[in-house]
Amino acid sequence: MSLEKLFIPESIAVIGASSKKRKIGYEILENIIEYGYKGKVYPININEKEIMGLKAYKSILDVKADIDLAVIAIPAKFVPSVVLECGKKGVKAVIIISSGFSEIGDSKTETLLVEIAKKYGMRILGPNVFGVVYTPHCLNATFGPRDILKGNIAFVTQSGAIGIALMDKTRAENIGLSAVVSVGNKADIDDSDLLDFLKDDKNTKVILLYIEGLKKGRKFLESALETSFKKPIIAIKSGRTEKGAKAAASHTGSLAGSDKVFSAAFNQVGILRADTMGEAFEWARMLSLSPIPKGERCLIITNGGGVGVLATDACEKEGIKLLDDYKYLEDTFKPLIPEFGSAKNPIDITGQSREDSYKIILRKALEEEKIDSIIILYCEAAVVDTDKFAEYIIEEVKNAKTKKPVVVSLIGGEKGEKALTKLNKNGVPSFEEPERAVYTMTALYKWWRFANRKKSKKKRDIMMDKEKIYSIINKAREEGRLQLLEQEAKDILKACGLDLPKYKLATTIEEALKAAEKIGYPIVLKIVSEDIIHKSDIGGVKVGIKNAKELKNAYKEIMYRAKKRYPKANIRGILVNEMVEKGVEIIVGCSEDPQFGPVIMFGLGGIYVEVLKDVAFRVAPIDKEDALDMIDDIKSYPLLYGVRGEKRKDINSLAENISLLSYFSHEIPEIVEMDVNPLIVLEEGCKIVDVRMTLKEV
Ligand SMILES: Nc1ncnc2c1ncn2[C@@H]1O[C@H](COP(=O)(O)OP(=O)(O)OP(=O)(O)O)[C@@H](O)[C@H]1O
Ligand SMILES: [Mg+2]
Repeated sequence: MSLEKLFIPESIAVIGASSKKRKIGYEILENIIEYGYKGKVYPININEKEIMGLKAYKSILDVKADIDLAVIAIPAKFVPSVVLECGKKGVKAVIIISSGFSEIGDSKTETLLVEIAKKYGMRILGPNVFGVVYTPHCLNATFGPRDILKGNIAFVTQSGAIGIALMDKTRAENIGLSAVVSVGNKADIDDSDLLDFLKDDKNTKVILLYIEGLKKGRKFLESALETSFKKPIIAIKSGRTEKGAKAAASHTGSLAGSDKVFSAAFNQVGILRADTMGEAFEWARMLSLSPIPKGERCLIITNGGGVGVLATDACEKEGIKLLDDYKYLEDTFKPLIPEFGSAKNPIDITGQSREDSYKIILRKALEEEKIDSIIILYCEAAVVDTDKFAEYIIEEVKNAKTKKPVVVSLIGGEKGEKALTKLNKNGVPSFEEPERAVYTMTALYKWWRFANRKKSKKKRDIMMDKEKIYSIINKAREEGRLQLLEQEAKDILKACGLDLPKYKLATTIEEALKAAEKIGYPIVLKIVSEDIIHKSDIGGVKVGIKNAKELKNAYKEIMYRAKKRYPKANIRGILVNEMVEKGVEIIVGCSEDPQFGPVIMFGLGGIYVEVLKDVAFRVAPIDKEDALDMIDDIKSYPLLYGVRGEKRKDINSLAENISLLSYFSHEIPEIVEMDVNPLIVLEEGCKIVDVRMTLKEV
C-alpha cells in the first residue's frame, strides 16, 4: 500500500476540527487552508455546523464525496471508533495526531488501530504526531509553523517538539523543504516506509532523519541502502551516550541499541550520521544545493596561510583528496597570483589580493577539467570589499559552464556575517570556520563514494554442513545445555569451512598420549567442562607441551586443579590441541542486537579488548571487502601490518574469516552468542584456537 495519498491527497477530512483558536483542530485546519491546499477539505465536528466558512459534518460517514486522507485530533479514547469509520468510508491514509497510546504504555489500542487499518487497506501515520507537510502540493496538515519554504529536503522526525522547532529554524535559515513527516509512535508507517516513498519522490533530493529508536532495524537498513544509491540520507540519532539512551527509551517507548552498532549500521548503508542538529542541516543544505562531483580532486583557494593550513589538516583528517599535480598547478595558477603567493594547493593569493583575484582564480578553477571541487577561504582584509567578494563568488558559481561543488569559509566581522548570509541565500554553502566547510564537503564526498560503489550487493553463497551443525546443537539441547563444549563449537566452525588447528578429546592419559602422537608435539591441553567457563583462570590451559613426559604431568595437574576448584563440575575430559605458532591474537564476537539482529564485533584479543574497547561492529553478514574496512576501523590495526620489524600478518585471510563468521552467525540464528577468542593471525593464514558458543533460550 503506497503512501501516495498521505502526501498527495485529493481530499482531506479533519476530524476534531474546531473553530476555537489555539485548539489543535483549529490550527491544523487553518494551516491546510492558509498554506494553499488545492483539494477538498471537510471539517468533522459533532457540535458545529460550520468552521472557517466550511460546512462541518458530524461524522466522516456523512460526507458524500470520497476522502483520501483523514487527520484525527480527538481524545485517544474516541480514536478507535473513528478509525473504524474512516475504514468504512474508504479513506486511504489516516494521520493520528492524538497522543495517549504506546508512549504511555497502551500498546494494545495501537495494535487494534493497525488491525482496523489493515482490514480496510488504510495506512496510519502516528499516533502521537504533529502531521505531514508536502510542499510541492501545498499541503501543510500540521499544527506546526505555517510558512514552510519550498525546497528539496525531506525531514522525517520521531520527536514532535524537535520537529516543530526545526521547521521554524529552516525558515529562519532559508532552507527549503519538500516534506516534513512526524512519525511518532510508528504503529504502522515507519522510517523505512517513508524512505521507500521518498526514494522515488522527484521533489526530494536529500532526506534528513531524526531517530530515537528503530523497531524493525533490518527492514530500515534495507530501505536505507536502496535509497542511498539514489539520494543521500542524513541522520541524527539521539541517545549517543548511555544517559541519553535511557532518556530516549522512556521518551517514545523504543529501545536505543548500543550506539556503536548504530553508527556501524548507518555506515554500512551509506547514511551520513551527524553529531549535531546544526551539522545535519549544514550537510542537508550542501547536499541539496551542490552538484555531484565528477572526481576527488579538490582545490583550496585562500588569502591567508594559516587558514590554508587549518583547512589542509582537516582535509587530510577527513579524507578529502587535494589535487597535487604541482607542475600543472604552477603552470595554471602562477601567472594569476602575486609574486609572493603560492600556486601549490592551497592556492595562496596572499593578503594583498583583492576580490577580483578571487574572481579570476575561481573562474579558472571552475573551467579547469582537472579540478573537481573547490574550497574557498577568505579572511576579511581591509583591501577587500567583502560584499563584492560574495557577489563575485555567487556570480561565478552561477555562471559556470561546468557545475562543481564549491564551499566557502569566511572569517570576519559584521560585514563578513552579512556576506555569509548572502552567499548561503544564493546557493553557495558558506561557513565561518574553515573546518566546517571541509566537513560539509566531506559529507558530500562520503555519500558520493558510497553511491558509486559497485551496486551488486549479492549475498555470498557459503557452503555449510547444516545437518552436521544442527545435530550438534540438538545434542546439546537434549542434554539441557545452552553452552556448547569447546570441541562441539569447533566442530561447528569446521562444518562452516573455517580453518582450525587439529584437536581431539581425551578422557584418559593414554588417550591424550595417542592423540598427541597423531597431532605432533608441541601441543596444548585444555580442560573441557560446561561448568568451567574461564579455563585459563583455574590453570585449565597448558601451552607448549613438548613431549610425553610433559604431557602426563600437565594432564594430571589440569585435572587436579579443575577438581579442586570445581568439585561438582561435569568434566568431559581434556582437549589435545595442535599448537599454533605466535601471531597476533584477535577476538571476533557475534551477538544479537535488539534492533538489528546478528552483529559481528572485531578487535585485538586478550586484555586489549577489555581495556581499550578498541573494537569495530558490523551488522552481519558482511563480505570480505567490508571486513577489510572493519579491520581498518580499529585504532590498533597497525599491529597487523607489522610493527618493530615484525612481518605483516595475513590480513586477507583474517577478512575472509570475519566474513565467514558473520555469515555463520546470520545463517544459524540458534547460536545467539559466539566468542572466537583468540583467533591467531599468522604471516600466512589464521587459526581459531578457542571458541565459545551459546544457544538461544527456547
Ligand atoms: N592451540 C593453541 N596454540 C597456541 N596458543 C594457544 C592455543 N590454545 C590456546 N592458546 C593460548 O592460550 C590462551 C588461552 O587459551 P584459551 O583462549 O583457549 O583459554 P581461555 O581464554 O582461558 O578460555 P576462555 O576463553 O574460555 O576463558 C590463548 O589466548 C592463546 O594465547
Ligand atoms: Mg579464550
